[in-house]
Amino acid sequence: MNKEKVGKFYDVVWTKYIPEYEDSEKHWKIFYSADEIKNKTVLDAGCGTGIFSIIFANNGAAKVTGIDISEGSLNTAQNLKKKFALENVEFLKEDMLHLPFPDENFDIVWAWGTVHHTTDPFQAINELIRVLKKEGSLLLAVYTRTRLTFIHEIIRNTLIHTPKKTWKLISKILAVFLSPVVFFFKKREKSRKGEKLEELIMDWYFVPIRHYYRPSEIQGFLESKGFQIEKFLPASGRFNSTSNFIFKALKK
Ligand SMILES: C[S@@+](CC[C@H](N)C(=O)[O-])C[C@H]1O[C@@H](n2cnc3c(N)ncnc32)[C@H](O)[C@@H]1O
Repeated sequence: MNKEKVGKFYDVVWTKYIPEYEDSEKHWKIFYSADEIKNKTVLDAGCGTGIFSIIFANNGAAKVTGIDISEGSLNTAQNLKKKFALENVEFLKEDMLHLPFPDENFDIVWAWGTVHHTTDPFQAINELIRVLKKEGSLLLAVYTRTRLTFIHEIIRNTLIHTPKKTWKLISKILAVFLSPVVFFFKKREKSRKGEKLEELIMDWYFVPIRHYYRPSEIQGFLESKGFQIEKFLPASGRFNSTSNFIFKALKK
């Protein structure tokens, strides 16, 4: 399983989807204030269609670099940059496992929902740590491993072996069955407006690489690298979903 497959997957599934600005910014403010990022350099690792890069850039960061391996997502991000008429943000096609930046280059490294889609999440985190300055801030949102994760993985590992051309149809059929269950959650997930359930299902069950962790594993890893945990949100993702946990940590 290689990164090209992941890039191609995100070229198909999320290329046009941009989460709502206001709600994403509201969520972003749980972690950073404009004062904290003023004149800072930011890496948005696995930026996707770029909403968080734009939010950092719009809130006073000196320069934001969004990187991703999905060309389609990066095209959408470039258009978003034009729409917001921002000069202090750039989008580059790069692999977070092998970043082309020198050591201790960024003040803030933000990786929302991305390291767990790489072939080697801990190598990815090591790369993010390498390019982060001392006293810099690292933000990681990572899929939570629960006692039920194995059920999700049985379904994903079964569905992923069906012919690719049937994936959209399977997702649509599953969406019909799952919509009553998801309805309740989607009502709370305002920033997911405009996103179709069948696309969510594609992301749940057809994404080529998905790793899951317990918060203690990520915390232990960060602390072993000399990080001080500043904030921890258990099972509370950008959209109040229970699939991610988040660490904000300071590099000592
Ligand atoms: C779930 S999306 C999250 C996008 C964005 N961070 C957000 O929150 O809107 C995961 C992103 O990680 C990217 N990705 C996966 N592996 C990557 C890698 N090795 N290097 C860079 N980006 C990667 C995918 O292409 C995809 O855009």
